[in-house]
Amino acid sequence: MRRTLIVTGGSRGIGAGVVRAALRQGWRVCFSWSGNAEAAARLEADCADDAENLLAVRADAADARQTEALFEACAAAFGTPDALFTNAGVIGPIAPTSDLDAADIDHVLSVNVRGTLLACGAFARHAARAPAPGRAIVTMSSIAARTGGMRHAVTYAASKGAIVSLTMGLAKELAPDIRVNAVAPGLIETEMLEQLAGGASPMRALAGQVPLRRLGTCDDVARAVLWLLSGESSYTSGTVVDVAGGR
Ligand SMILES: NC(=O)c1ccc[n+]([C@@H]2O[C@H](COP(=O)([O-])OP(=O)(O)OC[C@H]3O[C@@H](n4cnc5c(N)ncnc54)[C@H](OP(=O)(O)O)[C@@H]3O)[C@@H](O)[C@H]2O)c1
Repeated sequence: MRRTLIVTGGSRGIGAGVVRAALRQGWRVCFSWSGNAEAAARLEADCADDAENLLAVRADAADARQTEALFEACAAAFGTPDALFTNAGVIGPIAPTSDLDAADIDHVLSVNVRGTLLACGAFARHAARAPAPGRAIVTMSSIAARTGGMRHAVTYAASKGAIVSLTMGLAKELAPDIRVNAVAPGLIETEMLEQLAGGASPMRALAGQVPLRRLGTCDDVARAVLWLLSGESSYTSGTVVDVAGGR
């Protein structure tokens, strides 16, 4: 029997890497996206061989009603989900904190922090209706949570710190039925990092700051996420796994 995984923000970058890797491992996957319909359609087309095991749902992670609709759509198509990866996230404006207004701050915190809490809450509610063993959540933090982040991305770093805290709390609150862990990537080659670095070439130059001397790939993160969602990590909960090339 195939197990079911929900990936928030699964249409591009790391989320799409996890969707592809999970399908290869035999999961059924329901992923959300919010603004870029083309990217979601491209991923569905790339995974056409697995179409019966894949569901794409437009759902803004920051919105409670849309998050509940995502879980209802998944339950209707595949049954109660076994696993959740809360990947949806935004970097926000790259600017000194003194230049930000309340709306800039609220946007980053509402997608990254409120969105993670809403999805974890929905997962716990659905899980409680149909108890089953082996359920797990992986949240998306960042090494920015402990470094303070790259220059002029302080709100983003703070949001990723909050994700570490809520991961620790949820690991206790949802035990023993659901394990909860976070991944904390370093510099992973995606559109978000390109935006943060200010272009493809400055992004590639960042590899020099990494002890392993390369940027991370979406597959590097996907392997850690799928391990944390699997029975191979059955005694691991409330941890943060860095995927950061030694940074
Ligand atoms: N890349 C890195 O170096 C790095 C390092 C550490 C942590 N992370 C974290 O990893 C996650 C993914 O990053 P990435 O680099 O893969 O980013 P990305 O390439 O920008 O992809 C972001 C994904 O999230 C979705 N998304 C954004 N806002 C959303 C919302 N409100 N509701 C639902 N989905 C939303 C996007 O879909 P739409 O465009 O359709 O909204 C897209 O699928 C983020 O949480 C990020 O903070 C990244």
